[in-house]
Amino acid sequence: MFKTAAGRGVPFSFTVTSETGGYSGFDATDGLINQRIFSQMKQYRPDIALFVGDVVNDGKNDEDWNTYFFGPGRDFFVDTPFYSCLGNHEDNASWYYDLFAFPEPRNYYSFNYGDVHFVCLDSTDLIKKKDYPYSSGVMGPGNPQYDFLVRDLESSSARWNIVFFHYPPYVSGGYQVEALRQLCPVFEEYGVDLVMNSHTIVYERSHPLRDGIIDYDHGIVYIVAGGAGAMPDWLLPKREWHTSQSLAVPHFLQVVVTTDRLELRAVDDQGRLFDQLQIRKNTEGRRDFI
Ligand SMILES: [Fe+2]
Repeated sequence: MFKTAAGRGVPFSFTVTSETGGYSGFDATDGLINQRIFSQMKQYRPDIALFVGDVVNDGKNDEDWNTYFFGPGRDFFVDTPFYSCLGNHEDNASWYYDLFAFPEPRNYYSFNYGDVHFVCLDSTDLIKKKDYPYSSGVMGPGNPQYDFLVRDLESSSARWNIVFFHYPPYVSGGYQVEALRQLCPVFEEYGVDLVMNSHTIVYERSHPLRDGIIDYDHGIVYIVAGGAGAMPDWLLPKREWHTSQSLAVPHFLQVVVTTDRLELRAVDDQGRLFDQLQIRKNTEGRRDFI
């Protein structure tokens, strides 16, 4: 069946996962976990899919792209368009740009689908690897991505704004990159509703956050969809103040979008639902979390 992209006012759904590159407590090289994740995602028949980075172990190794991604995802990719952001394991390799198509400047971009304006950032460029994870990175006016983000969100008239990039500004399971919180005031000023990351190989959902505190009236939810290679050891026994839910199991996120709500479901590789959230928006643009 031939299908075109959903326009404004048309409900649609998408899935989110990452970390199919493995290197976790589970052995992803046999492809079974990744196959199960792709197979479970397909059951939901998403209109599009997002991948939040580290879909391979070594982006410069051409075999990795089949072993971890296109091989196990073969049946999924037959009829599911997808969008990707750079993780550190892609290593900014030429394969990433050869195998996927991006608008200029290719490592960050935005697009509309249904009632959502999606923005993809390259956090590996914002946080230079040599300084990781302590880099303070300059994320203010003059930084091309920062300027793009402000301009792009400023001109968005979509009902929902969703931003995705690899390194998580908020996560309790280690590998949090606090420097990326420099972007949060932009998200808050320009009406971002949801931020999605990975890198830490767990599932984690924050409380709604604004100005660095929990704010159920005006906050933004940050979700780490650390995807296919969940690593139990990375789940800290003590959760950070911003953490609402967390679990270390291979998983993906399924999101249903309508004009007035986002329905989020976290599903494991066996198809079991283990977290859910509804974000509703009234006619004045106020968000409620259910
Ligand atoms: Fe990563």
